[in-house]
Amino acid sequence: MSSLKYPATQRRLRASSQIRELTASVHLSHKSFIQPLFVNEKNKVRTPLTGLEGIYAETIDSVLRSIKQDIEHGVTKFLLFPVPENKVNVDFDFSFASRVVSAIKSEFGEAIWLASDLCVCSYTTHGHCGILNSDHTRLLNDPSVEVLVNYAEQLALAGVDCIAPSDMMDGRIGAIRARLNEINLDLVSIMSYSAKFSSQWYGPFRDACNSAPNSHTIKDRKTYQMSPFNVEDAISSSLRDELEGADILMVKPAGLYTDVIASLKQYSSKPLAAYHVSGEYAAIESMVQQGYMNREAAHLEVWTALVRSGANMIISYASRNAKEWIEKKLYY
Ligand code: PBG
Ligand code: ZN
Repeated sequence: MSSLKYPATQRRLRASSQIRELTASVHLSHKSFIQPLFVNEKNKVRTPLTGLEGIYAETIDSVLRSIKQDIEHGVTKFLLFPVPENKVNVDFDFSFASRVVSAIKSEFGEAIWLASDLCVCSYTTHGHCGILNSDHTRLLNDPSVEVLVNYAEQLALAGVDCIAPSDMMDGRIGAIRARLNEINLDLVSIMSYSAKFSSQWYGPFRDACNSAPNSHTIKDRKTYQMSPFNVEDAISSSLRDELEGADILMVKPAGLYTDVIASLKQYSSKPLAAYHVSGEYAAIESMVQQGYMNREAAHLEVWTALVRSGANMIISYASRNAKEWIEKKLYY
């Protein structure tokens, strides 16, 4: 008679990579990944971005080459951040952004899905995501929305597939949806940064886009981005954006807010995007450089957490590696 010392053992299911693969209930696919792209008007050649290993401030020519390479690596979805050379607070000129979108879409057409971030923080002298009053003490919601709607129209006319408003004003989703419909571009979709928290984790991005708030009067984005202490705001704002016509909702940052992804999944049937932001990416890269982590396994572990919590798609600075890393099955 064999004695079952540990009848309830679970370790049999962990015993080999075969059984770990067989019992996996989370599956990653490179098809759910979106690669961010920065194109900076002032750059004559593409330049590496500090903190963001493998990511460049591209020129129009270089971004076309990068996308071609990315397609070869199985990446076909992109989130564009156009960075203009000149800063103004009125009479915004969105022509550089339009030129980038139109160059990309005329080169690659239906072979890619191109979303563009929609915000003015890299356009304004003060680095805020909207229009300020004359003494720079308040952010003006409706005048900001008006500018964003015009920007969205320019991007849509240039051929973008999706508008991704990251400004956090009230009413912008409805206003953008209405304008797109008015100009018969009703198939251009909207991915709303619907649960975007005021966060310490956007640092490398703000360097890359030259978009850090630098006003002496309003020093942070707390009056328009969400408080990490108020999860209900993330849910109501996301549901509000859904009602206003958002096609995709987003949680950002992703890794620290998987609870928000999981709740939102319960409340909404819209597809959810999880944005693993610049600081989260840079934190991994710096741990890797110090020898504390395996780069591939670290990113795969984060992505798994995002899918487990309910994300349908992932915006990651390492998206261009997703196919290769997932195929290696390193994580089983
Ligand atoms: C602009 C914008 C930001 C990010 C995306 N769009 C920065 C911010 O709100 O300050 C952050 C992305 C990242 O850190 O990777 N509104
Ligand atoms: Zn902004």
